[in-house]
Amino acid sequence: MPVVFTCEKADLLEVKTRSERETMSLGESLGRVAKAGTVVGLRGELGSGKTRFVQGMARGLGIPEREAVTSPTFSLIHEYVGGRLPLYHIDLYRMKEGELDPELGLDEYLEGQGVCALEWAEKIEGFLPEDRMDVTLSIEGPKSRRIVLRALGPMHREVLERLKGKEALSSA
Ligand SMILES: Nc1ncnc2c1ncn2[C@@H]1O[C@H](COP(=O)(O)OP(=O)(O)OP(=O)(O)O)[C@@H](O)[C@H]1O
Ligand SMILES: [Mg+2]
Repeated sequence: MPVVFTCEKADLLEVKTRSERETMSLGESLGRVAKAGTVVGLRGELGSGKTRFVQGMARGLGIPEREAVTSPTFSLIHEYVGGRLPLYHIDLYRMKEGELDPELGLDEYLEGQGVCALEWAEKIEGFLPEDRMDVTLSIEGPKSRRIVLRALGPMHREVLERLKGKEALSSA
């Protein structure tokens, strides 16, 4: 069970995890309460746990592990199907800052009815939807991570409220 810090602000949740399993569980809880159109922008240095978090989200959406598929068109985007909602896992690590290729068709994913999780979201900062969830991970020790979820906009505030609900987090 990750340590959850109580936040007075409705749009924030701060969590400390002590293993990759706990980080995945937090992602799993978010996957369980995600809605069509949820956009999660992940920030954090190499090895901070962004991919682990997204793997948890896939589990929470009920995506079977063997169903993980790589988008045939764009290698930056992996589509996971077979769950409650499709998950678009977008890893912008190799993309040069400020050089978004319009042919990627990212807006179709960002405005679609699936769930988007973007690693290195800051690389397309100005392109991100205003209503989204920012998840910032920081390394505090070999196995501990500080994870701050911030809801920007009414839709993601609702998702965060559901995540904060006892039922969602108690199984994390
Ligand atoms: N509390 C923790 N949460 C998440 N990962 C952890 C934790 N403790 C240790 N780890 C380790 O940190 C690494 C996180 O790797 P992961 O690929 O998720 O990072 P990332 O942020 O996606 O990195 P990259 O920027 O390279 O994509 C894994 O090797 C994992 O085992
Ligand atoms: Mg990664």
